[in-house]
Formats: sequence, structure tokens, C-alpha cells
Amino acid sequence: MTDLTVLVVGSGGREHALARAIAADPGVAAVHVAPGNPGTWHSWPHHDVDATDGRAVAALAAGIGADLVVVGPEAPLVAGVADAVRAAGIACFGPSAEAAQLEGSKQFAKDVMAAAGVPTAASRFCRTPDEVAAALTALGSPYVVKQDGLAAGKGVIVTGDRAAAMAHAAACGDVVVEEYLDGPEVSLFVITDGTVALPLQPAQDFKRVGDGDSGPNTGGMGAYTPLPWAPAGLVDAVMERVVVPTLAEMTRRGTPFAGLLYVGLALTSRGMRVVEYNARFGDPETQAILPLLTSPLGQVLYAAATGRLAEVGPLSWRDEAAVIVVAAAEGYPGTPTTGGTITGPRLYESADNVHVIHAGTALDGDTLVAAGGRVLGVVATGQTLTQARDDAYAALAALDFPTGLWRTDIAAKAAAGLIPPVTSL
Ligand code: AMP
Ligand code: GLY
Repeated sequence: MTDLTVLVVGSGGREHALARAIAADPGVAAVHVAPGNPGTWHSWPHHDVDATDGRAVAALAAGIGADLVVVGPEAPLVAGVADAVRAAGIACFGPSAEAAQLEGSKQFAKDVMAAAGVPTAASRFCRTPDEVAAALTALGSPYVVKQDGLAAGKGVIVTGDRAAAMAHAAACGDVVVEEYLDGPEVSLFVITDGTVALPLQPAQDFKRVGDGDSGPNTGGMGAYTPLPWAPAGLVDAVMERVVVPTLAEMTRRGTPFAGLLYVGLALTSRGMRVVEYNARFGDPETQAILPLLTSPLGQVLYAAATGRLAEVGPLSWRDEAAVIVVAAAEGYPGTPTTGGTITGPRLYESADNVHVIHAGTALDGDTLVAAGGRVLGVVATGQTLTQARDDAYAALAALDFPTGLWRTDIAAKAAAGLIPPVTSL
């Protein structure tokens, strides 16, 4: 199908990156974004909508004659927005509310992994402080405590401090306590119609707020792709041992997963383990991955949404590297300082190998200001990771954003060859 009209739902950096890549597909005639952000408003028509209101999103999609709706964030998916759009007879890329429980509940994901025989950390589901205390003792330090429900990347604590682990659990309600996983992390995204699955290129995300992986977890402070240290058989191994059995288990349960399955992995000394599933594109990995994709994204997502992914061959890629560095607002991941001004070059697209992706930005008159935790991301592509990261950091340094903060070491170790190659999966 060509001449597609595509509605992208959401307002973050991921949605900006999705809209950009979908708009680059020659089979796409029009892209709309709802509600979007100042970066997307600059480039495509936008509509004000509550992204978690399925009826409102479906009505908007019908009103603009959308052929395809792409739901970006997890909250609308867990709320059933994809179901509401499909019920209105419009193709939607995004799992049902039931299938989105792979992200919506850590314990649900653990149950599916156990039933599917997928390698993951040993864990216990806990409802009371006594259960948490027993689980911490059983699973040992470093302690890993995860809020069961959605938490925007901030529901997990990894700590050697038992009192801090107990306090985090008390603040979360139901939690999953897990065994600690060592080794580098990989994000592998898979586009699926529930049966056929196409992997994207693996990326690595930087979860901690500070350089050298210090400080608390965030939604993600940067990312890069490809991973020069990853073993050649990584993607095939993940497809065979994780993705195929998980999709089969979801189908067996009568809740097939169609959409984007995000597999978060740790490549430990004892082999790969799934750290988490998400039910949507990762943010900010997507911003690094999509500029390297040469397959037509709008048509691929349409095929996935209409159960015809078998007709699409393997995805193809530019043989380059890409890096995104996220600029957050001071205070993030706690309460961010809002209202700080942002000026400088390239704030709204650019013709070279560098572009700015908006996330938590707003307009104060004509001035761009910070309005959220993760404010924007600078993406650069290059022949090598070193070139891409140099260009991304140079572009970031050219911005005037006094209340912004960012890590200075995104992709640094990988670019310098300092991550020991992983040899066993
Ligand atoms: P999650 O929301 O489950 O992805 O967890 C967020 C981050 O916490 C992960 O990307 C890891 O960096 C860290 N993390 C989660 N689970 C574990 C674990 N079992 N061992 C070590 N680190 C973990
Ligand atoms: N980058 C992590 C996430 O999207 O959850």
C-alpha cells in the first residue's frame, strides 16, 4: 500500500523520531502527530488529543482519514488505545491492552518468560515488607527491586544498600525482587504482526543519569548503534531463544502480541538474560536506530498492523553508526527545572548528518524552553561511532541551554574499543 496517511500518537523524542522516519518513506503521503511537541509541530500537522483516550484518538484518526495509527508510548497502549483504533476499523501499529501487559506488569512478563522458557533473572513477586525482606535475603546483593506497574523507567532500584531497597519497595506497592545481572545491556527491537517478527539493529542505552553510570536510573540519557563488541550471532540467538517462544506463548494465551516488542537484555558471564520487555519502541534508542534504516518504515509498520509482515523481507540498513545524546533539565530524574531557554543552531531539522529531536520542549512565544525531564536529543550519524559522537557533542555544545545537563560519555567506551567483546551467549 502506498499513499499512506499516518497518525503518530505521543509527544516525546521517540514520536519525533518515528514521524521523521515514517515521513521519509516514499509510500507515505502524509504524517500527522498528536499531540506532538514543538519539534514535530514544525514539520507536520498536529492535533491536540489526550493520547490515552482511545475514543478520542480513534475519532481523530477517522477525521483525518488515517490509514495507519502508530501509538508511541506505553501508557496509551496499556490503556487500550490500539484496541479502540482497530475497533473503529483503522489499522493500528501497537499491541492490545492485554498484550501490552508484557510491559504493564513486571510479574506478568515474568510469568510469560517462565512459561516460554526464556532466560531471565530469578525473581520473586512481593506484596508485603516481610516478603520483600525475605526475597532480598534469598536473592542477595546487589539488590534489584522493581515496581510492578508502569513507572517511566524510574521504578527500578539497583543498590547494595538493603535499607534503600526496602524503602524503594515500600514506596512502590507491589514489587518484583530480582537476582542481579552483570554484563553489558542490549536493546533489541522487533517489529511483529504476532506471527512474523523482523528484528531491528541492536542498540545500547544509558540508563543512569551520570557519567560512568553513576546516579539514579532515568528513562535513558543516550544511545548508540551498532554495537561493535556484540557477538555476530546475537540477533539470531535472541530471536530463537526469546522472541519466537514469547510470541508463541502470547498467541497460546489468546492474546497475540502485534506491534513493537522491545527486548532488554543483559549479556552476563553466564549467558544472555532478559532484563525487561517493553511494548513499544525504546526511547532514546529509536532516535539512533531509525536514521540508519533504509527500509520504508511506514509501509513496514502498515504491513505489521495488517498481519502481512510475511510479505516484507528482512529490514535493510545503512552501514554507518549513530549516536544520540539526551539533554535533560537540571534536577532530572527528580523534579526538573522547567522554563529554561534553549537557543542555537539546528533546533528545527537540518540538512546535514546531525539533527535535534524534541522531547520535553515547549514554546514561550517564539522561544523554545525546557518543559520536562528529558528535553531534547542530538542525533548524529557517521562513518564510525567516534565520528558520530564527536558530531553529536559538537552540535550539543553549539546550543545555548544553561539549565540543561547531559552525560559526556555516551558511546565513549564502545567508540574507544573499551568494552570487551562478548563471546558467549
Ligand atoms: P527495567 O525497567 O526492568 O528495564 O530496569 C531498568 C534498568 O535497571 C535496566 O536497564 C538495568 O540497567 C537495571 N536492571 C534491571 N534489572 C536488573 C537486574 N536484574 N540486574 C541488574 N540491573 C538491572
Ligand atoms: N530506553 C529505555 C526505554 O525506552 O524504556
